[in-house]
Amino acid sequence: MFYPEEVIEEIRSRNDIFDVISGYVKLQKKGSSYFGLCPFHNEKSGSFSVAPHKQMYYCFGCGAGGNVITFIMEYENFTFVEAVKLLADRAGIKLPEVEYSEENRRAFDLKSKLFEINKLAATYFYHQLQIENGKKAKDYLSNRELSDETINQFGLGYSNMYSDDLYKYFKSKGYQDDILKETGLFSYENSYNSGVNDKFWNRIIFPIMDVNNKVVGFGGRVMGDAKPKYLNSPETKLFDKSRNLYGLNIARISRKPNLIICEGYMDVISLHQAGFNQAVASLGTALTLGQASLMKRYANEVLITYDSDEAGVKAALRSIPILKAAGLTTRVIDMRPYKDPDEFIKALGAEAFQERIDKAMNSFMYEIATMQLEYDLKDPESKTKFFNEISKRIVEFPEELERNNYIEAVADNYMISVDSLRKMVANYGNMVGIVKNIGEPKKSTFKKEKEDGVKKAQKILLTWMINDVPLFQKITKYVSPEDFIEPLFHDVANKLFQQLESGNVNPASIISTYESEEEHKEVAALFNSELSDELNDNEMEKALNETIFKVKKNSLEYKSRNVNNMEELKNIAKEKILLQNIHVEL
Ligand code: GTP
Ligand code: MN
Repeated sequence: MFYPEEVIEEIRSRNDIFDVISGYVKLQKKGSSYFGLCPFHNEKSGSFSVAPHKQMYYCFGCGAGGNVITFIMEYENFTFVEAVKLLADRAGIKLPEVEYSEENRRAFDLKSKLFEINKLAATYFYHQLQIENGKKAKDYLSNRELSDETINQFGLGYSNMYSDDLYKYFKSKGYQDDILKETGLFSYENSYNSGVNDKFWNRIIFPIMDVNNKVVGFGGRVMGDAKPKYLNSPETKLFDKSRNLYGLNIARISRKPNLIICEGYMDVISLHQAGFNQAVASLGTALTLGQASLMKRYANEVLITYDSDEAGVKAALRSIPILKAAGLTTRVIDMRPYKDPDEFIKALGAEAFQERIDKAMNSFMYEIATMQLEYDLKDPESKTKFFNEISKRIVEFPEELERNNYIEAVADNYMISVDSLRKMVANYGNMVGIVKNIGEPKKSTFKKEKEDGVKKAQKILLTWMINDVPLFQKITKYVSPEDFIEPLFHDVANKLFQQLESGNVNPASIISTYESEEEHKEVAALFNSELSDELNDNEMEKALNETIFKVKKNSLEYKSRNVNNMEELKNIAKEKILLQNIHVEL
């Protein structure tokens, strides 16, 4: 963790969750909590709750939840450290200085200097576009139907006809060559007059910004058909092409359920202008896992809209597994007969593009559809090969439910019976030894239900303990943190039991011992299970005893499966007797 836990806890406790959230969401009091419309999903009735006594929020509709730090992370799309900084500021708390070594200090100074130069350069290019000399460039952009508002939003600019105008500008401001060399804006080699040349001349300039709106590099496009069409800044201390995405600084706060990835700068800009402000593009290189993970911070689904040509299809097929590896679901937008999103929107408009989004194909079905072009389904032999190839791929899905869904979807789409396809998949599964019970989906669904039931019981018990603190004394006889099996549940239970023992229950502080938004959400869910309030006291007590029984029984079964010695076995036997005699009075 970046800052000490006490510091985090002070910042959290000095930012009252109700004060902070009511600055963003309209809240109404209901019982001991407040309710409002959830800012994280679309809804008409308020399922978003803020509980001041717990200093937590939770949405019963979408499961968003956490403490005040989580809220800022989620709402502002901030990292944990960014959120902590904002809240420290808000509460007037000075964060401890992070100690820099001499070397770190120098690297930090160099980076700040480079940011400063990039910003100055972007302003310079922007100015060149606005003055009389930039008329040709302005006309080019108008021809491409970009509004002034769009030009401003993306900070587009123009590098003029002179080959060293920008260099002279920086020299006149006193910048030294050793730092200018690091910017990637100038070429120091091969200049025939042994002088220094600007990298970009007579081009439209696209400043490339990181997620914090800082300029890290530039792209430059010719205004006609000359080659190369685009020049991009080389990688520098600031510019890592594998870890940035064009447009993400805007897309990250678009509040759309997905991100759209396309190939070019112009595609991103056109899409944004048409209202699809969740569009981003990689920077003239193939998509990387680093970029996919970056996207995963802001969305769960990515829609691919690469060019419709062969190269675009190839790029899409290459990107799908990368996006999946980052945990994203993926669909592919078909833009035919148009080449790219820019052309599509110019020809058919935003509504038509939205229709294509709605119809976008699941990435697996897209892979199959592309593959199908290599086979002749009228030829029995070729057809068999095609379905064999599909089966091979379906086997690779680890979840049985997913495999079955795809078996059904493929069968439906390519007119083969579900049973024959299922058999083929089973054959492959047996061959590679991965898949069992393909023909019997019921069995494993049942197992999953049971697992979910046990998890649910563990969650309910944790929620119950924070809602009814005296209960803790009554159940410690039966339950300990070891009975919470999932690693995260176990860790949370450990922390909560410690708090309960010291009589200082503070679930919100437990949340901020984790750093990722995902963990915050999961922990918040543990403290916000829905306990039915329609039960009478007797029923309530029965439910509690059943819940404890379920958690304990599962834990004993787990222990029995992992015994190491006689001693443990004896203990388990003892606990099994205790299990039969659980009796807790509310
Ligand atoms: P327009 O032709 O202006 O509509 O551009 P586009 O945004 O449609 O670009 P295109 O699909 O041709 O290329 C996609 C991306 O690849 C661009 O945004 C650039 O990042 C990169 N790119 C294209 N051409 C070149 C090139 O000649 N050199 C380099 N280095 N990158 C290129
Ligand atoms: Mn284009």
